[in-house]
Amino acid sequence: MAVKVQGMQNPLGNSPLNAVRTDSGRSVPMDRRSFLKNSLIAGGGALLAGREIAALESSLPQQAAGAVSPPEIAAARFPKDFLWGTATSSYQVEGAWNADGKGESIWDRAAHTPGKIRDGSNGDVACDQYHRYKEDIAIMKQLNMKSFRFSTSWPRVLPNGTGQVNQKGIDYYSRLADALLEAGIRPFCTIYHWELPQALEDRGGWPNRDLASYYADFAAILAKHLGDRITVWAPFNMPEDFTRNGYGTGWAPPFKSNIDQFLKAAHTVNLAQGMAFRAIKAASSKATVGSAYGMEPIYPKTNSEADRAAAARIHNYHNLFYIEPAFHGTYPKAFIGEIPYEVMGFKSGDEKIMKVPLDWVGVHYYVRLIASDTSNGVPPELSNHDPFAQTRIELANDGPKTDGGLEMWPHGLYDMLMQVSRDYNHPIIEITETGGVFMDAPGADGRVTDLRRIEFYRQHLAELGRAMKDGARVRAYHAWSLLDNFEWGSGYTQRYGLTYVDFTTLKRTIKDSGLWYGRVAATGRLDV
Ligand code: FCB
Repeated sequence: MAVKVQGMQNPLGNSPLNAVRTDSGRSVPMDRRSFLKNSLIAGGGALLAGREIAALESSLPQQAAGAVSPPEIAAARFPKDFLWGTATSSYQVEGAWNADGKGESIWDRAAHTPGKIRDGSNGDVACDQYHRYKEDIAIMKQLNMKSFRFSTSWPRVLPNGTGQVNQKGIDYYSRLADALLEAGIRPFCTIYHWELPQALEDRGGWPNRDLASYYADFAAILAKHLGDRITVWAPFNMPEDFTRNGYGTGWAPPFKSNIDQFLKAAHTVNLAQGMAFRAIKAASSKATVGSAYGMEPIYPKTNSEADRAAAARIHNYHNLFYIEPAFHGTYPKAFIGEIPYEVMGFKSGDEKIMKVPLDWVGVHYYVRLIASDTSNGVPPELSNHDPFAQTRIELANDGPKTDGGLEMWPHGLYDMLMQVSRDYNHPIIEITETGGVFMDAPGADGRVTDLRRIEFYRQHLAELGRAMKDGARVRAYHAWSLLDNFEWGSGYTQRYGLTYVDFTTLKRTIKDSGLWYGRVAATGRLDV
């Protein structure tokens, strides 16, 4: 079922960059589900989105999906001040792709290139949130939301990536922040959710080390103009995803496939993360800075030492490759041999630039992965094998599936939260995304009775509650997503929203899952 686009396999499915999920893909290419299937085939390619837990005690997880018992669900209580929220990203919802002086991004370029998006669509209009943000905030308010995670489009603010600021772009985010605050909702800004200005890609993209300082300048501009109202900043969304899939596997814009270039891009992003942290804090004394990491628990395929070591490498590569440099100024051991500093373009002193005490850690959880060792020989059918990690990654396949084809495994959220808490001395955590594709549409009565999504969230939240009981310091949860939206390489074929969007009329209809989530937010209970 692997879909090929222009000769490339795109694993992710849901958003183009995530190689690991299925069909939801990211890039153009495929959805996460196909991706996963492929990645089984593709071996090292699976590294993309990586999230995994390396050191789980047993080879494969034992706890089945849906395992939280009804009495435990009925007993679950979340704290009164818990921040219930939803997440979106600029390209996926804003539309207005060339309005008011906005420049072109690599996603505009990709979506305007025939063959890159599964249904031939693009984000030119998307949910038109640029013009309808008030209506969307009214929905959040109706659902008792306390936090909204959105992202800023770099070329909307700096059409060429550097230089002249487009005041109308700043004004948009300023209006958005004001309207959120007025509704009693915390604005949570992700600075970069994959919208690189095309002008900067033309200058080499993320493998070009100069981008670290261009990016820090952009972050400083945002903090200077918006930092009196926005206090929560995440420099990057899923850095492991856009670097690997943009430059290593070629599954996402700008569709480059060269592992050395990916490693260079990864290092630039780690420098950028550290530099942006300091720039934001310098521009706004109220700022707190964390990040939004895609994290997938990684389980070894067998109990062999080789597979356990492979799982540990992938955990380091996917889950820790951007958090470890922040907390410790070092790279984790993601490689079979030594860390390839030269390939990465690492210079002495970089460890100090990368090291910053993140105020909190953002965790997305979608799927778990299974890793096995390939150091004794790469199966010939594997494409995109990463010679530095020598691992094959597969999507796990034991639980029930979403309509996007990804396995639902709520317990993976518990495992991941406990692992991050243990490894980083119990940091404050924000769940920055979880969600699933369920294609339910309005019935004759106009209602969207997406009961599977309710169960999906109930189980994930139960696992979250359990992790909090066991010591994870989680203060917020953002469901992906407020709205059905443009799902990267899958276009409009994957619905993740708590609110149904008719992409012809742009009419919004809150789904039953949205109404349920609103009751959870009001009561802190899951049996509502
Ligand atoms: C996440 C992305 C988000 C969306 C969801 C389904 O990995 O951050 O933009 O694509 O997957």
